[in-house]
Amino acid sequence: MIRKAVIPAAGYGTRFLPATKSQPKEMLPVVDTPTIEFVVREAVDAGIRDILMIIGRGKRSIEEHFARNFELEAQLERKGKFGELSAVRPLPDDVRIHFVWQTELRGLGDAIRHARDHVGNEPFAVLLGDTILQSNEERPVIRQLMDVYEKHEEVVLALEEVDREHVSRYGIAGGSPVSESDSTIKVTRLIEKPTPQQAPSNLAIASRYVLPPEIFQALDMTTPGEGGEIQLTDAIKILLDERSIYGHIINGTRHDMGNKLDFLKTSILFGLEREDFGADLKGWLMQMVDTWHNG
Ligand code: UTP
Repeated sequence: MIRKAVIPAAGYGTRFLPATKSQPKEMLPVVDTPTIEFVVREAVDAGIRDILMIIGRGKRSIEEHFARNFELEAQLERKGKFGELSAVRPLPDDVRIHFVWQTELRGLGDAIRHARDHVGNEPFAVLLGDTILQSNEERPVIRQLMDVYEKHEEVVLALEEVDREHVSRYGIAGGSPVSESDSTIKVTRLIEKPTPQQAPSNLAIASRYVLPPEIFQALDMTTPGEGGEIQLTDAIKILLDERSIYGHIINGTRHDMGNKLDFLKTSILFGLEREDFGADLKGWLMQMVDTWHNG
């Protein structure tokens, strides 16, 4: 059973400068809710109650966001602002969020290494803190992976089809479907950022994982790659020599909030779904489209 989730959120966010010079990209809001809150809710909705965030310099606001603010709560209650009150306390009381510092930013693999003491000797979920995964079904995307884990008890990677010309941005997995009706594949090859010619498929690792505790030994054995970073994909590749790895083609959409264009698109998509102003936003967008057509 998966009881713990690790959320790496220590990265610099260089793709989103200058906004990320003094604020974490994981706190960039989609309409009014920080990205990382969507990520935490995904884990909580999947049944996880123990969450470890990997943070670092300049990331204090993440801690503050998840701490209770009793003065603010009292004031909202006095003013009868109950909608806002539940918005500032979005998580069930039994959810525990812990923090650990990654002092030197040496890549995602290194960030995961910082979870070793907290995770101990059990499998755990990993959700990248800058990416929202919107599920197309009732089960959150990480729950989809946890269900595959419960069947096979092996590494499970979230996979998503991407355009062939974009494979060099991702870790790419090759393999074959476990059964015809299933969206689970048995992974036989993994390559970090391949060229379109090298890529064994167009299935990219999509920001969510279920990992066994053996990943920590594999991370210790992983030599730093480009820019001195320890790649998580390289460590998973070491595990591939000894055990089975599964990939689950997610039923959902990935929104990479560390990417400016994705950030804008996601803000619009989520804005359109809002009861309070979605219709106004749609009207405005249609007016804009009319103007472009006519002028
Ligand atoms: P990214 O590779 O997208 O993060 O990592 P980054 O390095 O901040 O991005 P850019 O390219 O400079 O914009 C995915 C997740 O892993 C975390 C990030 O915070 C992000 O949530 N991460 C990355 C760490 O926690 N530590 C690291 O050393 C690197």
